[in-house]
Amino acid sequence: MPQITLHQNGQVIQQEVNANSNLVVLAGIKKFPHLKYGCGMGKCTKCTIKVLSGAQGLPEPNWKEQKMLGERLNDGFRLACQLYISEDLVITQDF
Ligand code: FES
Repeated sequence: MPQITLHQNGQVIQQEVNANSNLVVLAGIKKFPHLKYGCGMGKCTKCTIKVLSGAQGLPEPNWKEQKMLGERLNDGFRLACQLYISEDLVITQDF
């Protein structure tokens, strides 16, 4: 099971999630209750995360991430609501 490490508000929250979990739905919401998110549909960018480690295990950005994040994708930013996670990941919303 992938292990997710979230750095947020100076705290570190570490949880295992089922493979192919999305952090803003179902198990993700329960395990990361303070993760900031909004629409869940790639439209608001409230769920923006910065990937600190594990980016290579993520799928390529989809068209919603490309449209909403643009150049920020090159700096490691992703939309959590658009990610189904299958490998360990270290992320932050402190930026
Ligand atoms: S929750 Fe709105 S873009 Fe992800």
